[in-house]
Amino acid sequence: MARVALVTGAMGGIGTAICRRLSRAGMRIAANCLPGEPRRDEWLAMMRAEGVEVIAAEADVSAFAASRDMVTVIERDLGPVDVLVNCAGITRDSVFRKMGEEDWHQVIDSNLTSVFNVTRQVIEGMASRGWGRVISLSSVNGTRGQFGQANYSAAKAGMAGFSKALAQEVVKKGVTVNCVSPGYVETAMVRAIRPDVLKALVEGIPIGRLAQPDEIAAVIAFLASDDAAYITGANIPVNGGLHMYG
Ligand code: CAA
Repeated sequence: MARVALVTGAMGGIGTAICRRLSRAGMRIAANCLPGEPRRDEWLAMMRAEGVEVIAAEADVSAFAASRDMVTVIERDLGPVDVLVNCAGITRDSVFRKMGEEDWHQVIDSNLTSVFNVTRQVIEGMASRGWGRVISLSSVNGTRGQFGQANYSAAKAGMAGFSKALAQEVVKKGVTVNCVSPGYVETAMVRAIRPDVLKALVEGIPIGRLAQPDEIAAVIAFLASDDAAYITGANIPVNGGLHMYG
């Protein structure tokens, strides 16, 4: 039976590329989006026309109960989740002295608490079946910090700590837990940066350009494969040389 992959934030730039890659690897896809997502029907039609076996899984993953209900429906309609890709995320960039309480909580809830909310629903099933993959989209800015992103950098660093802790708890059960940390990727999120600020950022990337979403998705598809069984608790940088460590 083909494996089931749940991708949160699936209809965004990186999420779409991930769905394509995991489908090409033979998986059936549950594509999470917010309830009432305006792109939903057009996106599903586009993916199905490409041969992707996909259902929409609507839920605000910053809420625990909604995440639980979403996974119940996926299990009923597709079967248990074998691969979880935590890709849902937002930015509310602001210098810290101007950052409001809402800017903080929305980013922590959508980017970090969501990882708890969704992973909590699927991890026991993965462990009891003896195979699973949890992959979370962290960021170069979680590792190095970024001017204007105290909230986002905190959330993304939190995802890496979460993954290392959980990886130890499930390593003997055939479940790996990893992060991928993209640099600046050509998506709506990055296009929203003020043009002068973005130009300066791109000039600082050694490779001299933004990443394409598929360059991130390729690494995620590898981590989701059987070949990556020995990689766990890792945080793989894909950043064009913007931040080198390890
Ligand atoms: N380091 C040090 N100082 C900086 C700086 C930096 N990186 N960037 C700006 N400054 C300085 C400016 O020179 C300016 O100084 P003066 O007041 O002396 O002139 C001061 O800080 C204010 O800067 P801004 O004019 O930019 O302030 P603003 O309030 O208009 O904008 C901001 C603030 C919205 C945070 C804006 O700087 C910004 O958008 N920064 C980019 C944030 C960013 O990288 N976001 C990534 C989004 S994509 C993403 O998150 C995906 C991913 O994972 C990578």
